[in-house]
Amino acid sequence: MKKTYLILAAAACFGLTSQVAMADVDVDKIYSKKCKMCHKIDKKKVGPAFKDMNADPAVLKAAIADGRKMMPKFKKKLSAEEIDAMVAFVQSKQPAAANPCANNPCAK
Ligand code: HEC
Repeated sequence: MKKTYLILAAAACFGLTSQVAMADVDVDKIYSKKCKMCHKIDKKKVGPAFKDMNADPAVLKAAIADGRKMMPKFKKKLSAEEIDAMVAFVQSKQPAAANPCANNPCAK
């Protein structure tokens, strides 16, 4: 199943206003191929569970783009749109309290 995350919606929520790209990114595929071996959605594995990650999208983005300790950097492997989509994907798995968009139509 292919989920489409509208970068525009993420940009509206998180203030990533510089890019207004309507990218059609298959986040489930990226997750299964590149992240799943180290991250689960709701349990700690090699890295933290997506649901327990930092609430700040800038921190998530920096970790994905530039890596951190065991976390490999993805800025050469994923496009800017794909990295933004993965940030939105991580945030969509976080509890409502940590996600300012959870009860907001812009989260979809
Ligand atoms: C080789 C294992 C590995 C892979 C593959 C991997 N990660 Fe990580 N990731 C880690 C580890 C370990 C950490 C914790 C780093 C630390 O100690 O701060 C981490 C941290 C992160 C963080 C920061 C969390 C926070 O709370 O600050 C994000 C976001 C993240 N990973 C997303 C991803 C995404 C998205 C992918 C797939 C594109 C991915 N990771 C692939 C191991 C991995």
